Amino acid sequence: MATIKVRQNGSLLVEGDDVTLIDWNGNPYPLAKRPFALCRCGHSTKKPFCDGSHSRMGFAAAEAALGPDAADKPAV
Ligand code: FES
Repeated sequence: MATIKVRQNGSLLVEGDDVTLIDWNGNPYPLAKRPFALCRCGHSTKKPFCDGSHSRMGFAAAEAALGPDAADKPAV
């Protein structure tokens, strides 16, 4: 099973051994390590992977999942 974790003010962390990341042509990206992080800020120089640029750019995102059992609060 794969899990995608939305990091607060950061990347999308993809966990799981049964995950293949493919481009628009269906070609797989080589995955040097697992878990791996995908950029969602748009500033990475290694897209689709996160290179840590989100911190330098001050990326902010407050999309915490809220539900009856949510343990986290929205980012501020
Ligand atoms: S989310 Fe990390 S560089 Fe974009």
